[in-house]
Amino acid sequence: MPKAASTIQSNIIKAGTLIPGQQTPASDSGARVIAVTSGKGGVGKTSLVVNLAISLAGMGKRVVIFDADLGLANVEVLMGISPPCTLFDFVYGKKSLEDIVVPGPGGIRLVSGGSGFLELANLDKKRRQKLIDSLDYFDREADFVLVDTGAGISKNVLGFVAAAGEVIVVVTPEPTSFTDAYSMIKVLSNYRVHNEVKLVVNQALDRGEAAATYNKMKMVVSQYLTINLQNLGWVSKDSLVSQAVKEQKPLCMYFPRSTSARSITLLAQNLLVGGETPVKYYVGAGGFINRLMRLFGQSGI
Ligand SMILES: Nc1ncnc2c1ncn2[C@@H]1O[C@H](COP(=O)(O)OP(=O)(O)O)[C@@H](O)[C@H]1O
Ligand SMILES: [Mg+2]
Repeated sequence: MPKAASTIQSNIIKAGTLIPGQQTPASDSGARVIAVTSGKGGVGKTSLVVNLAISLAGMGKRVVIFDADLGLANVEVLMGISPPCTLFDFVYGKKSLEDIVVPGPGGIRLVSGGSGFLELANLDKKRRQKLIDSLDYFDREADFVLVDTGAGISKNVLGFVAAAGEVIVVVTPEPTSFTDAYSMIKVLSNYRVHNEVKLVVNQALDRGEAAATYNKMKMVVSQYLTINLQNLGWVSKDSLVSQAVKEQKPLCMYFPRSTSARSITLLAQNLLVGGETPVKYYVGAGGFINRLMRLFGQSGI
């Protein structure tokens, strides 16, 4: 591991963010909460979250996107909508969950994290309980909750990834993206955050380049780490993805016949059927928030 990454890792241990051996409990009910993350920024996480959500919705699934990345090119921007309220307004204000879950394109729904998540550690008991109780809503109302996280090995990103039941790591064939994705997977493996990581190779020139990237990652992961790497699929480098972003129109709705949109549909199908290896670990939305607060909070609940 590069020196910088190992320093960050030891900071994580000091901060008590991740406790070795802590794993997602298995549960059969509730929404599948899937964090989408990457080692490096700009690899296509947000585009993937939006289009995966729309594809899953097209397959009859009820999907909520949790925007946990406070960056600029966030989910709202990509979908051309701007939620009037965020989770913060629900926790601290008088807004109901129905007020903060806004409809998006293709039948999906969106919750903007705002600064709500960052405040979780400081919530008093009453507000925590309000949040936990209300999150049953997602277990009832959603089949999938896709969490768009920021990039990189930071306390916030790892908190979201650890709290979710499943994780997708997005990588591109670029060497820097590859190395950073490996560092992320290594942290998840070393701290036994998850038993399994689903890899998506984005912006590959062709199937061969995607396969080479996956195989290389599979090789180093199986040689050095104890985590199972699942190949969820790949998405080609396609100028229509950038065009869709610029026009704030989701690719899967406006260019559904493009190769990139079709490959994202395949990814959605792989998620539904379990891909190479069956999905073993689920955590409902209520469990997600509980785990988030345990990971971000001081004393737990
Ligand atoms: N498959 C792709 N082909 C071409 N460009 C892509 C692809 N996926 C993402 N991009 C471009 O990469 C940029 C970053 O994408 P984004 O989804 O915002 O990444 P992240 O959320 O990881 O920072 C966007 O401008 C987008 O147009
Ligand atoms: Mg993003």
